[in-house]
Amino acid sequence: MKQQSDAEIAGQVAGNPIVLDQKSHTTVQSFIAASNRKLLHVDTIVPWAQDVDVSKPPKLEETSWIYGTIQWRGLSPAQRTELLWLETARDVSYCIWQEQAFAEMYIGYVNRYHSSLSSDIREYLVISSREELVHTLMFRRYLHVAKLPIWSHPKTIPRFPAFAKRTINQHPVYGILWNLLVKWHTDLNAMYQTQHALVDPLTRAIFKEHHAEETRHIAFAKMIVENFFTTAHAGEANALREFIKRAFGIFLHEITFMPEIARLTSFAFPVAIDDHKNIQDIRNSPNNLRINRERFRDVHEWCMKYKLLP
Ligand SMILES: [Fe+2]
Ligand SMILES: [Fe+2]
Repeated sequence: MKQQSDAEIAGQVAGNPIVLDQKSHTTVQSFIAASNRKLLHVDTIVPWAQDVDVSKPPKLEETSWIYGTIQWRGLSPAQRTELLWLETARDVSYCIWQEQAFAEMYIGYVNRYHSSLSSDIREYLVISSREELVHTLMFRRYLHVAKLPIWSHPKTIPRFPAFAKRTINQHPVYGILWNLLVKWHTDLNAMYQTQHALVDPLTRAIFKEHHAEETRHIAFAKMIVENFFTTAHAGEANALREFIKRAFGIFLHEITFMPEIARLTSFAFPVAIDDHKNIQDIRNSPNNLRINRERFRDVHEWCMKYKLLP
């Protein structure tokens, strides 16, 4: 492990909020090396010139938010295709918002705790923030190339950035765990629905490239949270659990079906934005319950282990 200065060691003793065991430090250093070996460049990250292939769907039909419902059966093939692309625009917009917010959050920790953090943690917080910002540029380029709208109407901004703000004055593990749950779900969702031969190749490629870096971000955040639960007092651990449980349900609802889709379709969407009864039924449709069980299995098993599920 890299030598640390006396000031750094003193700082850690004085109040380092992110304490890891030695094995985790070794892993963080391997992540830093991997990130430095391959820097993503927006221009060359995927073959932009090939454009999206609109004759192919951007994701499997069975992963549409309303697949298998009476509302889905009422749509024409062209309307179904439009819906799949708009849902993909939502997924991409979600990545842009959350990654801008979490890059700011991580850099905030670097500023606030600069001399108390161990140098490898500080370095990886900066590296992963840089990677997230490059991802936002890649995702914005994708929306432009695919001629898709960013879901950014003030009324359509989802609730998770507001929740992220509530983590600001807490111990960093609050923000890091919240970030972990959001990014882990979004990455599992993207890989589940797009990595198939019949899907548009450009869409497939951006999510695959994204996944390679996200895998490290997810593993880093998991280590921090796991180390926290190993060392925290029961009271501290339970306070974190209660905080996360409150947001978990909202987030799962939002990722499964976002009612604001009704504002974006060129046709009259069969579920009105304030039709709470139908919205709830759709979120709990047999197909959504099935795909949530399948695509989110890894994250939910991990959450179960640490008692984070509502
Ligand atoms: Fe990312
Ligand atoms: Fe991310």
